[in-house]
Amino acid sequence: MNQPQPRNPAETYEQYFVPAMFLPWATILLRHAAARSGERVLDVACGTGIVARQAAPLVGADGQVVALDMNPAMLAVARALPAPSGAAIDWQEGNAMALPFPDGAFDVVLCQHGLQFFPDRAGAVREMRRVLAPGGRALVIVLQALARHPAFEALMDSVARHLSLPVSAVMTPFALSDADELRTLFTAARFRKVDILPESTTARFPEPERFVPLAVISSAAAVPAFAQLEAPARAALLETVRGDVAPTIRRYLGTDVVTFPMFAHIAVATT
Ligand SMILES: C[S@@+](CC[C@H](N)C(=O)[O-])C[C@H]1O[C@@H](n2cnc3c(N)ncnc32)[C@H](O)[C@@H]1O
Repeated sequence: MNQPQPRNPAETYEQYFVPAMFLPWATILLRHAAARSGERVLDVACGTGIVARQAAPLVGADGQVVALDMNPAMLAVARALPAPSGAAIDWQEGNAMALPFPDGAFDVVLCQHGLQFFPDRAGAVREMRRVLAPGGRALVIVLQALARHPAFEALMDSVARHLSLPVSAVMTPFALSDADELRTLFTAARFRKVDILPESTTARFPEPERFVPLAVISSAAAVPAFAQLEAPARAALLETVRGDVAPTIRRYLGTDVVTFPMFAHIAVATT
């Protein structure tokens, strides 16, 4: 059976990118978080909610899961998906840099591939610290360097070149790859104990011919330089980028899949 076609970048993100890479990352993040029954969990920059949905059964009906994102389109997709077992998820629109919660309201704060997008990262980490209860923990996962991800590197080099932008303007998902910089954000926010753990997973994107177009379209959900493109300009860009990136993608072709390793750091910080 064919899946219903996505109607917007947020739906594309959920249908294509979440199973291919964000679900594997969420599984790793939650393994490190070891959330227990009854705990109160906040998922910051929840997107379409994969982390929150994985956390809900772990904390159970006695626990609490709040999931916050600033993009209403991502939240609309999250709210429309079937609810998991366990805690009911409270989806909230809001800004990670000014969390709309009282001090000490959560036992665990999770943030998956979100911190690199915030203009004031230090402020966002201070907010995570503020809303954690004594003894609470924050677990934040961000991607390692773009150079470790040649398929995305080829894609972003090409997009930047054709938009006449520096690569730094389109590589936001990889913009917080330095482990020391990540650690400093948490020590500066007065977390007592901070560990930066390297992790890796294997991304698997089905339908290889869709990888480049969907990578560009779904990035529009998160990367401002892509989001600002009008549809015709995006279509023209797609064709050019597809040609540029094809030789690199061929290196990662499996049977009906583009597959490659991905690398991240997880900051595990305790109050
Ligand atoms: C790459 S997505 C990750 C989403 C989700 N955590 C996941 O793993 O699928 C980044 C998300 O950060 C959100 N975001 C960016 N800036 C934000 C901010 N200042 N406050 C809250 N959410 C923000 C975007 O709307 C987007 O949903």
